[in-house]
Amino acid sequence: MPLTTAFVATLAIFGTAILTNADAPAGAPPLSLFPSPWGQGGDYGWDAAYAQARAFVSNLTLVEKVNLTTGTGWEFDRCIGNTGSVPRLGFRSLCLQDGTVAVRYTDKNSVFPAGINMAATFSRSLMRRRGEAMGAEFRGKGIDIALGPVAGPLGRVPAGGRNWEGFSPDPYLTGVGMFETVTGMQSQGVMATAKHYILNEQEHYRNNVDVTIDDRTMHELYLWPFADAVRAGVGSVMCSYNKINGNYSCENSWTLNYLLKNELNFQGFVMSDWGAQHSTVESALGGLDMAMPGDGGPRGSIYGAYWGGALTESVLNGTIPAWRVDDMAARIMASYYKVAAISGNKPRPDINFSAWVPPNVTVGPVYYRANASIEEVNLHVDVQADHGALIREIAAKSTVLLKNKQDKTLPLRKPARIAIVGDDAQDAPGGPNACVDNKCYKGTLATGYGSGPGNFPYLVAPATALKKRAAADNATVVEAPNNWDLDAAQKAAEGADVALVFASADAGEGYITIDGNTGDRNNLTLWGNGDALIKAVASVNNNTVVVLHTVGPVILDYAAAHENITAILWAGLPGQESGNAITDVLYGDVAPQGRSPFMWGANISDYGAEIMYTSPTPQAPSQNFTEGIYIDYRYFQHAHTKAVYPFGHGLTYTRFDFENLTVHPFHGEGAATAAAPSKTTTRPAQTYGVVNSSIEANEAPAAFKGIKPFVYPWLLHTNSSLPKWLNSSTTGDNRDPRTNGSAQAVLPAGGAPGGNPGLYDTVYAIGFDIRNRGTVNGTAVPQLYVQLGGHDNPWGVLRGFDDVAVAAGERVHVEMNLTRRDISNWDTEKQNWVITDLQKYVFIGRSVVDIALNSSLPALKL
Ligand code: BGC
Repeated sequence: MPLTTAFVATLAIFGTAILTNADAPAGAPPLSLFPSPWGQGGDYGWDAAYAQARAFVSNLTLVEKVNLTTGTGWEFDRCIGNTGSVPRLGFRSLCLQDGTVAVRYTDKNSVFPAGINMAATFSRSLMRRRGEAMGAEFRGKGIDIALGPVAGPLGRVPAGGRNWEGFSPDPYLTGVGMFETVTGMQSQGVMATAKHYILNEQEHYRNNVDVTIDDRTMHELYLWPFADAVRAGVGSVMCSYNKINGNYSCENSWTLNYLLKNELNFQGFVMSDWGAQHSTVESALGGLDMAMPGDGGPRGSIYGAYWGGALTESVLNGTIPAWRVDDMAARIMASYYKVAAISGNKPRPDINFSAWVPPNVTVGPVYYRANASIEEVNLHVDVQADHGALIREIAAKSTVLLKNKQDKTLPLRKPARIAIVGDDAQDAPGGPNACVDNKCYKGTLATGYGSGPGNFPYLVAPATALKKRAAADNATVVEAPNNWDLDAAQKAAEGADVALVFASADAGEGYITIDGNTGDRNNLTLWGNGDALIKAVASVNNNTVVVLHTVGPVILDYAAAHENITAILWAGLPGQESGNAITDVLYGDVAPQGRSPFMWGANISDYGAEIMYTSPTPQAPSQNFTEGIYIDYRYFQHAHTKAVYPFGHGLTYTRFDFENLTVHPFHGEGAATAAAPSKTTTRPAQTYGVVNSSIEANEAPAAFKGIKPFVYPWLLHTNSSLPKWLNSSTTGDNRDPRTNGSAQAVLPAGGAPGGNPGLYDTVYAIGFDIRNRGTVNGTAVPQLYVQLGGHDNPWGVLRGFDDVAVAAGERVHVEMNLTRRDISNWDTEKQNWVITDLQKYVFIGRSVVDIALNSSLPALKL
């Protein structure tokens, strides 16, 4: 029952202006000059963690503190990123490692379904369980910091190369994915990393594109899921490569200092994406806490790094206040202690792999780039446990049944003759790990390419599992694996009871180009002749079932409308158990419960925003997110465009009715904004321990023999350069306002991790019943959408969902809550979330367009 925006009240209240200095809260410095908030401690375990961190950091010298903040250099140590260590206190380097679906560059690990599949489950418990399993695998390899999960890209553009690493273009769904994944991973003693913060929405020009965005869109879309990660206690946030409103993300006072560390009250540390740091002082004052991978730096620099010794020097000469470096170290150690405490302070395992030796190799250099210290670096520790079963379960449950003609094509009922068509059903020649970072497109597609994937322990191809299953039924299988041989495909399909056509579309990170696609997809068609293959088969077999392994939407209008295409399944990027999982679904051992986490448009232009593939100023490309909050389904609704398949759509083998909607203001009253944070100012910035500012105390000990080209924290100088910089500090009126360590105002929308705790108070309780009308058990995925009122809000925004098992013929009652945050808009002028007095509505649906129940929201007593 689609409603139009015409039916709601009309006030246009939201400005879309870019933040200017005038928008800074009264008394605060301009946003571009906001000092980097220092870690406070606080609820959710941060107080205890900070007590330990302060004690630890108080014992450190300046160079030891700096050593924690700076990576030792690309490929120098065993992990993808390594901090310096504190040998004097027996504290080894922190090991940072990709990826987002597997532990990258090792062996005896699992390959999990991608983030986009997790979104498709609409299941909090599966998201949590995957987080726990992945966390255990990272921990088992001796990794301290896992480089995931992903909320940036959010998915502004459907062809975005890394969308599959994240969850969904819907910020609420992605926010739940972030919260559950972070919670699951950190329960295992591994720090999670929310990345890439923020607006890293495409791979073309990712290193320098300057994105212009308005404050409201920032809050209501892109920042939203990061708030959930912070509320979950995420240990680190990775700042992205791009610029935002003129400044690089890793030195951006607005996004790092003002939004993340003040408003969202982030208590962990900010690390740079690999090479996303561009300065020594600007990044330190702009809110960066850890430089990765550490080496690089300005041309001609004697340090070979922006930080390391250069940071030590900047503290000693007064450009960077000592409290800022102390805060970096305290933030890093607080995250370390917090996550250790969650997992019961179990001993920290040694790093037992090396990212830089091939996975089957055992002996290699500990310091790879220096080719030094040849030892057993890869102990082949098996961390897979029983995760294969979970991967199979998630892969099956995340499969979205887009089409099932007359509700009866699937599940299959022991067909006697089966055609399996397409390279995407088959093993890749050379096996699943033939190409590092998954950078060749061959065989079944189970994950995308770039830094997200890892080595497969095995990959069950669909044809392998289907043939096994068919053999059990004494069925005949005919295969046509070559996508370009349409004659062979048709021959195989002719006369088959069912023709299963497998097709795929890949994407990944921009440092890899496959078939002309540089990370981002060039279009939304299937790869490898997939569309022609499907059409060829469907022209000769009237029971053609299409299975898609794609990184996101593809143009499917022809298949949706085709009489002979009787079923379409989207299996996303399912990971190592791909074949088993799709067989489970096709044969009905698992009822599909996936729901599409994005829109399926008939044209790429239906999505509004598109990738910027070229720029008239490639050295300084810029992009304005003028579509504002209207992306994916919000845009389709706004433009009144019909999708081929909508967000939230997914069939199963039964039918659910929703009934008896009740809506109750919770406790009967609320407030238009959350109460002011309990503390309105912070403490002044603190330093820990004493800084010995003599040159000798900050130089390498005479006997120290470094490993070239390691990045070290010590001062380096020539006799002639020394007097120029030492104690040349800028003081008094010339001081950069970002060096001001006096007590800071706590922003009204802040006060606790994730923002003002009042945002998370329940303000409405929503109840309804689900009835299973069919003859088989199934899982319903009721979706709650809210219309926030007025012309300036989308028709509806997702604000609740659940996966509810309902047995055949049974009825189950479901309760959902709406929080203050769920029904608020961001008010740029007030710099706060507000509940407007516009009439609001709530909808319960099977998808964003298949709405079963609706009600107005009774006014809260404000
Ligand atoms: C990617 C990150 C990744 C890092 C380390 C960067 O290029 O953007 O996602 O964690 O490399 O491999």
